[in-house]
Amino acid sequence: MIYESDTLKVQRHDGGIAELTFDLHGESVNKFNQATVDDLKAALSALEAEQGISGLLVTSAKPVFIVGADITEFTRMFKAGKETIIEFAGHNSANLNRLEQLPFPSVAVINGYALGGGFELCLACDFRVMSTAARVGLPETKLGIVPGWGGTVRLPRIIGVDEALMWIAGGAEQRADAALKVGAVDALGAPEELRKVAMVTLQRAIDGKLDWRGRRDAKRSPLPLNDTEAMMAFFTGKALIAQQAGRNYPAPVAAATAVEQARGMGLEDALAVEANTFAELAQTDVAQALVGVFLSDQLLAKKAKGWSRQADKPVQRAAVLGAGIMGGGIAYQSAFSGIPIKMKDIAQAGIDLGLKEANKLLSKRVARGRMSPEKMGETLNRIEPTLSYDGFGQIDIVVEAVVENSKVKQAVLAETEKQVAADTVLASNTSTISITRLAEALERPENFCGMHFFNPVHAMPLVEVIRGAKTSDATVGRTVAYATAMGKKAVVVQDCPGFLVNRVLFPYFDGFSKLLRDGADFQAVDKVMERWGWPMGPAYLLDVVGIDTGVHAGAVMAEGFPDRMRNDFKTAPEIMFEAGRLGQKNGLGFYEYPSDKKGRPVKTATAVAYELLAGHVAERREFTPEQIVARMMVPMATELARCLEEGIVGTPAEADLALLYGLGFPPFRGGVFRWLDAIGMENFAAMARACEGLGKSYELTEGMQAKLANNETWYG
Ligand SMILES: NC(=O)c1ccc[n+]([C@@H]2O[C@H](COP(=O)([O-])OP(=O)(O)OC[C@H]3O[C@@H](n4cnc5c(N)ncnc54)[C@H](O)[C@@H]3O)[C@@H](O)[C@H]2O)c1
Repeated sequence: MIYESDTLKVQRHDGGIAELTFDLHGESVNKFNQATVDDLKAALSALEAEQGISGLLVTSAKPVFIVGADITEFTRMFKAGKETIIEFAGHNSANLNRLEQLPFPSVAVINGYALGGGFELCLACDFRVMSTAARVGLPETKLGIVPGWGGTVRLPRIIGVDEALMWIAGGAEQRADAALKVGAVDALGAPEELRKVAMVTLQRAIDGKLDWRGRRDAKRSPLPLNDTEAMMAFFTGKALIAQQAGRNYPAPVAAATAVEQARGMGLEDALAVEANTFAELAQTDVAQALVGVFLSDQLLAKKAKGWSRQADKPVQRAAVLGAGIMGGGIAYQSAFSGIPIKMKDIAQAGIDLGLKEANKLLSKRVARGRMSPEKMGETLNRIEPTLSYDGFGQIDIVVEAVVENSKVKQAVLAETEKQVAADTVLASNTSTISITRLAEALERPENFCGMHFFNPVHAMPLVEVIRGAKTSDATVGRTVAYATAMGKKAVVVQDCPGFLVNRVLFPYFDGFSKLLRDGADFQAVDKVMERWGWPMGPAYLLDVVGIDTGVHAGAVMAEGFPDRMRNDFKTAPEIMFEAGRLGQKNGLGFYEYPSDKKGRPVKTATAVAYELLAGHVAERREFTPEQIVARMMVPMATELARCLEEGIVGTPAEADLALLYGLGFPPFRGGVFRWLDAIGMENFAAMARACEGLGKSYELTEGMQAKLANNETWYG
């Protein structure tokens, strides 16, 4: 043994082969936390001092190789100032440089995920062999930063600028065949063969058959591009990256710029450019938000695991009632995730529609080469369409997705309860009706909860799991486990009108209605909110959701929270609804939707909506972008704070993720609470004051006032 610690060890094998093995004790994965970085430094000293070593294997004792830096250490470090951040990058960069300069060849044995810093370590080795089951990549730009341990320097010098820019700016995980094709790795092996492949590679290098010194020189040298080649590569590359990333995500372009700035430099200078870019980006609100989202995601996954442990049994067979838009989507998602599902409707036409929808989604996957026709057949076979309750006695969970009518739902649920086993979980996909109230029709209300999917089910990551007054922990547990098995993010919330997501969406829509009432142009509002980061503005969103659905749900919310959600004027969505404009579904809403050649709806503004509104709204008036953002976002934020204060949702992190995954809240802002932390409660209070007189939704909640008075943040 040459070196051993709680994070890694270096052994000496026959023939002078050394093996550096990462194995972070007490963790399921390897990551570069501070201890690992320190230990690597010591291990390299031991290796440098060891006599008679001819070659080095770099391996992992875990199913993953190294998943990257320890992101839990980022938040504090990013706030510590530029010098500290550069120092952080410098420590491990120095390690990797020393690894690269050892007086014998090295081979990284990539047995599983090698991401971020984990992959940068591999790039510092002379050769890389990769398991066919592994993934590599540099996902840093997804966190709003750039690789900080030589990734932007070594990767373009190994695989060429064009590919490297795409890898770094896109941040995607790469499969083994793709990595081999571009030369990011030198050989592949099936998991059980990988070590043999690595040994052969290393031996050939030791024997002088592979030019490992030449490889090192290439990585330490300027990029081999003349000015014209460089201009072409960076000019077109950066334009494409900027277009794909969008104006709110600066890291991808910054990464490309760092590669460009360092193109004529040797390793040390190029690393300094990279470290500087890393430090500058790390200090931005965008990086704070994206790192925050990553950490919140981990918290959510942990909570889901905790809930799943409370499930008394896993879901092996499911059923869905209603084969409409949502029922069909739920059946598809369950079958796609490997869980057989009965799809029951009262009408054959409904079933045909549900099956057609599943078929369409699967055919798309097959056409894109993302699924084999056999797999498609297997998936479809997992959906069992039915008009009867036959076999419901063996079902672990039934998701009700019939029409949004509480009498119909109560009748259907009570009828179903008689057909299922005593411990079957019943869940309703209602978007507005109180779970506690629906439970009144049931004999076993403890087995009942809400399971609120979002439309379209296959694309929207969120499922709200709603606890009624009598819902048991085991019921919540089984439902969360099912949502997780379907690849969804489950957020557990308490029952109230609108639950969490719709409860905060409708005050936002009210903000929109009041803006229009006071003379704003709906297109201008859409434009401002889209620039703010929303995937679509409120008018467009209402059209997509369905104006009838919006008006109906709005009425439920007004009944539930009259003090702040009941309007004393006719709202713009009501005006559209009364004119028979239901949104995208009938091609007429705030906008109109004629079809293009491929049959896709094209959003088109016409005079009709303006004419309809004319008699009900004030004369057209300009609002500044700041006024529009304040009028839209203050009511959403105050309502979300209220939900947290009332215990509807457990933590700011869960609340923020629910909006990201359920509504498409802009990820670069991290969620409402992260946004409040970024702008500060003082500024938020000023925004709210500027909206004085617009109603209770524009007043700070008690919790907000306390944060303001105590100068506290939501994330602490
Ligand atoms: N569409 C959305 O955007 C959306 C989003 C989230 C939640 N939801 C909720 O999901 C539920 C379903 O909505 P949808 O948009 O899929 O409606 P839909 O009208 O498309 O489908 C409802 C289906 O239920 C069937 N049905 C009616 N009574 C039934 C019964 N007794 N047994 C079995 N099937 C019966 C109908 O035949 C129809 O096929 C509603 O509660 C709705 O609020 C909808």
